[in-house]
Amino acid sequence: MAYNLLKGKKGLIFGALDEKSIAWKVAEKAHEEGAELVLSNTPVAIRMGQIDELAEKTGSKVVPADATDVDDLTKLVDEAMAFFGGKFDFVLHSIGMSPNVRKGKPYDDLNYNFLEKTLDISAISFHKVLQVCRKKDAINEWGSVVALTYVAAQKTMYEYNDMADAKSLLESIARSFGYMYGRDKKIRINTISQSPTMTTAGSGVKGIDLLLDFSERMSPLGNATADECADYSIMMFSDLTRKVTMQNLYHDGGFSSMGMSLRAIEQYNKSFEDCDDKSL
Ligand SMILES: NC(=O)c1ccc[n+]([C@@H]2O[C@H](COP(=O)([O-])OP(=O)(O)OC[C@H]3O[C@@H](n4cnc5c(N)ncnc54)[C@H](O)[C@@H]3O)[C@@H](O)[C@H]2O)c1
Repeated sequence: MAYNLLKGKKGLIFGALDEKSIAWKVAEKAHEEGAELVLSNTPVAIRMGQIDELAEKTGSKVVPADATDVDDLTKLVDEAMAFFGGKFDFVLHSIGMSPNVRKGKPYDDLNYNFLEKTLDISAISFHKVLQVCRKKDAINEWGSVVALTYVAAQKTMYEYNDMADAKSLLESIARSFGYMYGRDKKIRINTISQSPTMTTAGSGVKGIDLLLDFSERMSPLGNATADECADYSIMMFSDLTRKVTMQNLYHDGGFSSMGMSLRAIEQYNKSFEDCDDKSL
């Protein structure tokens, strides 16, 4: 059901690759709620993915940009402003990639060139997007910017690797830029910390099936889906959250506040049932 929460608003959405992508769900819901959109992804993701289908469905413009390249971002923001006929109201940064994870390099044997790429793509690109938008004064007052993150920024999560460092940096950028953009232009910047979700980026995390099961059992409300993440993002882009800024907002069914749940401990105990050695 749509509520016209984004009626008359314009937004720039990064990171829709295919229909599993969180950004894809956000774009669909933003369109349903009345927003006009520009969609962006890397040229290769546009070629390999299905973003054109999403653009057709939502009447959006697609502009290629590597989010680590300031020239690309500058052209993108210019094209978006030309398409909208002026400034826009919201931005979604839904970008993440680690070459160390992709190549199976463990955290105690990182390739440092890869690490630089992880940080650039998954975190510093957020600063670049914000800086280009700020310099071009591209976002309307009381606009809203959201980036997607994961609880591995605060707590060590098995196999999340150097993406944990990238997410910590991403969340810090949201706070530091949130102060300046808020003070000068009344623009709010937040991160949404989402449950593990079965997307292309999600399935790159080693052991994602086990992680999904574990966090489902640990969360009183269960894992949050990509659709539910899209609902939360729409609320953050709407005028209902105008004084929320510089926050890391957990959208994870309660996982981040849990220590141990009954469901998780029961499953853990089952693993000892056929085992004679109780010391294990
Ligand atoms: N899936 C999960 O379990 C989960 C959980 C918490 C947070 N997140 C975060 O949500 C965001 C979206 O991921 P997703 O799960 O929808 O997966 P996804 O693979 O669908 O989206 C990741 C996107 O990043 C884009 N990207 C990669 N390099 C880029 C670059 N240089 N420039 C521009 N775009 C680039 C990809 O093309 C892709 O569209 C990411 O920040 C991810 O870390 C995901």
